[in-house]
Amino acid sequence: MLSSTEKKRLAAEAAYRHLEEGMVLGIGTGSTVNQLIDVLIERRIRLEGAVSSSVQTSERLRAARIPELDLNAAGDLPLYIDGADEATPSGMLIKGGGAALTREKIIAAASRRFICIVDDSKVVGTLGRYPLPVEVIPMARSYVARQLVGLGGQPVWREGVVTDNGNAILDVHHLHLDEPAEFEAAVNGIVGVVTVGLFARRGADTLIVAGDGGVRTLDLRP
Ligand code: A5P
Repeated sequence: MLSSTEKKRLAAEAAYRHLEEGMVLGIGTGSTVNQLIDVLIERRIRLEGAVSSSVQTSERLRAARIPELDLNAAGDLPLYIDGADEATPSGMLIKGGGAALTREKIIAAASRRFICIVDDSKVVGTLGRYPLPVEVIPMARSYVARQLVGLGGQPVWREGVVTDNGNAILDVHHLHLDEPAEFEAAVNGIVGVVTVGLFARRGADTLIVAGDGGVRTLDLRP
């Protein structure tokens, strides 16, 4: 039986094979991505640089001496690699457990290919068991919470957490997301919402899942 850390490492190693010398890489946030940064250090690959999705990842990149690039200067990226909190086999995701969802979603949108790396505990048939993170403008927190109740969820304020963008997080419990793309659009339509951590419209292009039996790579889009 592999530990979850060992599985994350396996997924990160599999993702590493998609990197090329001189590339600009979009890079996510979390413990799985931290495994990838460790692999980048060990293999001594020379990237042109990385576009980071969080202060936490930027600190790790700095320690690894990987140059950090501004997305505004970098333009569209060839590749973005990130973890997820939940993933369907079709590449739809819940992200934002680490509160980095907005920058993650921006980088995913600006990338030609998104490889998502997860251990097999994250794979589900229907999204929603993991509370769905929503980043909100602080003054709109209660208003947005009421609208989310109207959409059938049970929002809980992640008290004490301030995102890298200075905003608040609501975690929406008790969802069963049969139609995730429609739900994503509905939440995005609430005034005061910055981002919803549902990656249904722009999901992963490739899903790498690590389990006890090794790594499975699902190529989902051409
Ligand atoms: C960060 O906000 C998240 O979107 C992460 O990608 C997600 O929480 C996965 O994190 P782990 O790799 O730590 O499970």
